[in-house]
Amino acid sequence: MTIKEIFETMEYGPAPESAAEALAWLGDQGGAFGHFIDGAFTKPGKGFESRNPATGEVLAKLTQATQADVDAAVAAARKAQPKWEKLGGPARARYLYAIARLIQKHARLFAVLETLDNGKPIRESRDIDIPLVQRHFYYHAGMAQLMESELPDAQALGVCGQIIPWNFPLLMLAWKVAPALAMGNTVVLKPAEYTSLTALLFADICRQAGLPKGVVNIVTGDGAVGEMIVKADVDKIAFTGSTEVGRRIREATAGSGKSLTLELGGKSPYIVFDDADIDSAIEGLVDAIWFNQGQVCCAGSRLLVQEGIAERFHAKLRARMDKLRVGNPLDKCIDVGAVVDPVQLQTITSMVDGNSAGQVHRATCELPENGCYYPPTLITGLEPSDPLMQEEIFGPVLVSTTFRTPAEAVELANNTRYGLAATVWTENVNLALDIAPKLVAGVVWVNATNLFDAAAGFGGVRESGFGREGGWEGLAAYTKSKGKTKHLAKIEPVVGEGGPVDPIDRTAKLYVGGKQARPDGGYSRAVWGKAGLLGHVGLANRKDVRNAVEAAAGAKGWSKTTGHLRAQILYYIGENLSARAAEFAHRIDAMTGRRDGAKEVEAAIQRLFTAAAWADKYDGQVHGVPIRGVAIAMKEPVGVIGALCADEAPLLGLVSAMAPAIAMGNRVVLVASEPYPLAATDFYQVLDTSDVPAGVVNILTGSHAELAKPLAAHLNVDAVWSFSSSDLSGQIEKASAGNLKRTWVNNATAFDWSVDHTRRFLQATTEVKNIWVPYGE
Ligand code: NAI
Repeated sequence: MTIKEIFETMEYGPAPESAAEALAWLGDQGGAFGHFIDGAFTKPGKGFESRNPATGEVLAKLTQATQADVDAAVAAARKAQPKWEKLGGPARARYLYAIARLIQKHARLFAVLETLDNGKPIRESRDIDIPLVQRHFYYHAGMAQLMESELPDAQALGVCGQIIPWNFPLLMLAWKVAPALAMGNTVVLKPAEYTSLTALLFADICRQAGLPKGVVNIVTGDGAVGEMIVKADVDKIAFTGSTEVGRRIREATAGSGKSLTLELGGKSPYIVFDDADIDSAIEGLVDAIWFNQGQVCCAGSRLLVQEGIAERFHAKLRARMDKLRVGNPLDKCIDVGAVVDPVQLQTITSMVDGNSAGQVHRATCELPENGCYYPPTLITGLEPSDPLMQEEIFGPVLVSTTFRTPAEAVELANNTRYGLAATVWTENVNLALDIAPKLVAGVVWVNATNLFDAAAGFGGVRESGFGREGGWEGLAAYTKSKGKTKHLAKIEPVVGEGGPVDPIDRTAKLYVGGKQARPDGGYSRAVWGKAGLLGHVGLANRKDVRNAVEAAAGAKGWSKTTGHLRAQILYYIGENLSARAAEFAHRIDAMTGRRDGAKEVEAAIQRLFTAAAWADKYDGQVHGVPIRGVAIAMKEPVGVIGALCADEAPLLGLVSAMAPAIAMGNRVVLVASEPYPLAATDFYQVLDTSDVPAGVVNILTGSHAELAKPLAAHLNVDAVWSFSSSDLSGQIEKASAGNLKRTWVNNATAFDWSVDHTRRFLQATTEVKNIWVPYGE
């Protein structure tokens, strides 16, 4: 056979990697594993078999953790945590570095074991998974080293429960364990039931690295064990997996005070414009949807191709698909390996078989007779609303539709409940840079796809979850602010008697869409001070919430304004508040019966000026990722934020939440202090005179308990916060599960409003989007 013929037929001999070392390692362990708790393996117990999906052979027996096992693991982690944290960043860095080195030394063993267990091609485990794992530990060794100097206000959360999926078993472990350990946390991790072996090898590496016992604990088992971890006495849950389970975890942790990060599913668009380098875009697609058999949360599984080139593009794609080599994952020449398990194979098969729309092309390449194989598949001619255009298939199946204009491409791309990743293929840099910010996704790749690095935070928006893994932004998920917390008891309004202080009895309305609005229900309540009746305020209901959210959602243009403009408006609000400082101070004193109103007003003016100062300075970053290119980390506004404002600081609490939010381009629905609402209703007069566009700030008054749920459950609200003294955190977090919106709740702990927390607010008001742009040679 000539070289030319080999290239044409793609037929060349097998080049299998030896499984001997990995099988010997499994043999050395006796073929059965217990859990790794408190620095040692437990005796294997009752459990299940772990099979090689390419052959069906049993690789090892794994133990299903019991409640007692989970309790022991959590207790070990709890005991180890204070000492681990006190060791200090530089000492922890050395352990992380040692782990990275050891993984590097055992890279081949890890890669082969991963491929045996998961079915992914050895080319991928060897060249992508394991090198990225090492990189993650090296990178976070650096983060541990720098923690004290660069994050002086940060401390560990404590014990982290971590639940990971089967598609990148060791890589997901690294994404969870490395930052947690770097920041001084200890962990209890559960690998997915199909793929636990590299996690157990990792446990052995921790031992070899001399990691103090209890810092890393690994328990094996299915979703029931996951549920036990979610309920256990841990300080944080980090989960990667299906949106359905993520939503359940959100509900289960609601009100528990546990921090939560969720990295969930996706249906990521892969957009090809008619000026794209078509051959590169086709190769990109091979990496987008046939990488890891399409079992990738950010897989480019939804092809959007410009109409004029669609026919040619699909024809080329079919030809390329037919040349993919599907087979023994240990063969170094294989492009597509085995699906992780017969269960997943069945899921993929029934989803595709259940579809009758469009034209289906199954690659004509040969499939092995046995094992969990599914042919690379392309379904063209689907409508955007077809189930397969919307549902995550999590297999080697690409669905495709066409578009005419860039605007339509954006609309189709964003027509999904997910928002994890997106790929844009065009030779026109202006077009790429115009489109990238418009895509609702946590990661955008330009003329490339499925690029990952420890320096570039990964994670989604919408129902793809919240929180980032990697980069500086990823550290927020494993730290909290220093300082002790104080319980916040419900603050009751003053109940008074007597006539009005001001002879004209005024009823303050709500502030919605830049206008004063009567409450829908028509009800109001009296606000008393010690001196007598101060006025009335409207009692908003769920319809008022809807109106306010609609107004905020409609004020989209605000997110596109420049930081410079937003800064000017914030300064102007500050100036106008300053002009009426005495009046506001008097009002606050009259409501609260305290004498610190003047101080509160002054602090509120300062918050406005601080937010104005930050509006054009809270910059993104350009990450030095290991490609010839950059990852641009852009800080984007979260969207519409609903907040129950602090009861105890009626003006300062509201301004402290509002100012950073609008500084970064968000629109807000603020529910005023419940006992002392009049400072907020006076404040909208300040907003009216300060050039704040209608709908950017909306203010409701009424019962926090009544308004919390409609706000938290509203699908057009992207984040919900509660600083209320009513303990509504659990309710809010539970209701937020609907669209998995971001939450920030106080769990009945007091916030010291006299301290400037603007940076924390800035972080909560933005989400990082990483845009990868390769720049060639
Ligand atoms: P899954 O979400 O059920 O499993 C992920 C992890 O969560 C596993 O470790 C599992 O044992 C654990 N788990 C399951 N139920 C749990 C519960 N109630 N509480 C706590 N932990 C629980 O994903 P599964 O069943 O393996 O795959 C189903 C679908 O999920 C796939 O077809 C795919 O669409 C999606 N998926 C998405 C992933 C992603 O990275 N976004 C990864 C894996 C699956």
